[in-house]
Amino acid sequence: MAESSRVRLQALSRSDVAVAVWRGRSRLKFLARRLSRLSGLEIRRRPKRKERAADYSMLEPASAEIVKQAESRFSVSFPISPHCSLAPAEIKERLDSFYWHYPFEFGGRLVEADWEPGRGLYGRHYHRYLHIIPALLSMTDGSLTGKSVLDVGCNCGFWSLQARRLGAESVLGVEGSQENVDQAKFILELTGIDGIRFEQGSAYELSRERHGEFDVVFYLGLLYHLEHPVLALERLFETTTELAVVDTTVIPDSRALCRVQTDVVHEQNYSNRLAMIPSRAAVAAMLRHVGFRTVMLVPNAPATPPPDYESGRRATFVAQK
Ligand SMILES: C[S@@+](CC[C@H](N)C(=O)[O-])C[C@H]1O[C@@H](n2cnc3c(N)ncnc32)[C@H](O)[C@@H]1O
Repeated sequence: MAESSRVRLQALSRSDVAVAVWRGRSRLKFLARRLSRLSGLEIRRRPKRKERAADYSMLEPASAEIVKQAESRFSVSFPISPHCSLAPAEIKERLDSFYWHYPFEFGGRLVEADWEPGRGLYGRHYHRYLHIIPALLSMTDGSLTGKSVLDVGCNCGFWSLQARRLGAESVLGVEGSQENVDQAKFILELTGIDGIRFEQGSAYELSRERHGEFDVVFYLGLLYHLEHPVLALERLFETTTELAVVDTTVIPDSRALCRVQTDVVHEQNYSNRLAMIPSRAAVAAMLRHVGFRTVMLVPNAPATPPPDYESGRRATFVAQK
């Protein structure tokens, strides 16, 4: 065989090999993804470095001292106030009338979360607290003393109560469902806890004129319910003076995308017609678009966060104005 044809043949076979390897890798990746889906595990593509760096940075993990401080302030166990005028039978009737998204203990009586029976007081929301609150405190010198806090989509006030326990001077909880607001007010009546107000209202209608401005805004478990996320985040920006904490379900995609689906919620909650579930990059892009200067992703705490945080299907951001 002439020298020139041998070289051509060699070149051809090398490119054939390259194509075969490339096809084999794709096939392997495809099979691995299918297998992982079938086994309930998840293989995520590594997000592109450039894209991540542009949109958000990673918050430093909170110090052990701050984690301890957060732990020591947590409580969902409250005595019944001596000023509560409700009779025991009335209290029981009202406790039984609500759907409980969080567990509580009132005057020694355990009220379990309806969707998480048997977990007692330290189930999912306690672990969310340990994920979210130390990160926030690491930005506020270890406490919320003297701060005004707005809790948007506050449900029956679990996070508002924690904010007050962490030293917040005043807390306003705004919630779309009147029944959740009634439940939140009932908890205040029962426990006599002061410094917190609850109002029925929409995340789309928050305004500086009507609600005021707040040092810290909790925007937890809400973004992925909304059909107009950018509009709602503009309202968040207007009412925040320092920090917004945004905790949301996310889709595992490194690009800035939202998945559109019907907003399906428990009947006591307010339901939007559509839900736009964002990716992490989409959350960061939207927060920056509405004006937040810095967006930081909260790292998973060493004390195991709930599985959806660990698998990357839920994420918490701290946005700085
Ligand atoms: C999944 S719960 C999250 C509750 C709480 N913030 C947490 O993270 O544990 C979402 C809450 O937001 C309320 N909500 C949904 N859409 C809303 C809207 N457009 N405006 C105000 N509240 C809304 C629901 O009624 C519900 O109480």
